Amino acid sequence: MSTEHTTRTPVTVLGLGAMGRALAAAFLTAGHPTTVWNRTPGRADALVARGAVRAAEVAEAVAASPLVVVCVLDYEASRSILEPVGAQLSGRALVNLTSDTPERARAAAAWAAGHGIDYLDGSIMVPTPVIGQPDATILYSGSRETFETHEATLRALGGRASYLGADHGTAAVYDLSLLGFFFSAMAGLMHGFALSGTEGVPAKEFAPFTETIVGILPALAAGMAEDLDRGVYSGDQDNIVMEAAGIAHIIEAAEGRGLNTEVLTAVKGLADRTIAGGHGNAGFVSVIEEMRKPSARAGR
Ligand SMILES: NC(=O)c1ccc[n+]([C@@H]2O[C@H](COP(=O)([O-])OP(=O)(O)OC[C@H]3O[C@@H](n4cnc5c(N)ncnc54)[C@H](OP(=O)(O)O)[C@@H]3O)[C@@H](O)[C@H]2O)c1
Repeated sequence: MSTEHTTRTPVTVLGLGAMGRALAAAFLTAGHPTTVWNRTPGRADALVARGAVRAAEVAEAVAASPLVVVCVLDYEASRSILEPVGAQLSGRALVNLTSDTPERARAAAAWAAGHGIDYLDGSIMVPTPVIGQPDATILYSGSRETFETHEATLRALGGRASYLGADHGTAAVYDLSLLGFFFSAMAGLMHGFALSGTEGVPAKEFAPFTETIVGILPALAAGMAEDLDRGVYSGDQDNIVMEAAGIAHIIEAAEGRGLNTEVLTAVKGLADRTIAGGHGNAGFVSVIEEMRKPSARAGR
């Protein structure tokens, strides 16, 4: 047991929010000597009880391992943690699993290059309970050498560790693109609960039927991807005029029940402008034309 423990790469985890704690726990489970640090002390207690080493200072935490993982709220937070220890990080591998924009990921990579740090950027695509599981997807981009050197160790965090390329911003591009899909879908899901709820349908009875929608998405996405890559919008089975009529029915029913229709009104607007643009015979995929334009209301 102790031999197995000492052959594993020592790792340091900076940031012990919900995700940082899950990452550190996964390293411990896989037998990696794990050093942890968090801005607010106390969050490490359960990890220390499992064998993690608590570092009082960031520099002490960095010095403990050749591989340093940071996972905090955003890049402003990771920058404030890492900048004072740039010299200590030199020659070590740094993996930033904080979510933020591609631009900030690239800026962090430029800073790391200036300090001789082997830098990899990553995006965690699963919630905390899935960390450490074989099907947990974590995306990486940046230094291929760093990824390949530490791939086995990083697989302790998630079996689906995908390297996306040398551009440090690519993992964040995938992250934001997938999260945009996720949050839009979440808003649609909440609308579904609200609408069915107005007729007294218990959420628990409605929930299993969401699988019918979730289940058709992978094949739908693959078909749309083919259309998009070919630059052809097919729609013989599901043209957008028919779909816009369906969306109008949802809005009518929701308005009649006093519900918020902002999300679906936005979707209807995309469909209507797509039809007005001459793509009425195409399928929903043709709204990509509207997505490629700036929003009518520019502010956030
Ligand atoms: N939780 C998830 O399910 C999930 C899933 C995928 C990706 N992620 C990503 O993982 C990252 C961390 O998420 P989380 O769930 O762990 O968040 P969290 O529970 O809110 O924890 C935030 C962490 O950031 C630290 N922090 C915030 N501002 C800081 C600053 N100025 N200086 C130093 N430390 C600072 C906090 O330290 P204190 O304890 O001192 O406040 C804490 O360790 C985020 O980028 C998130 O998008 C999370």
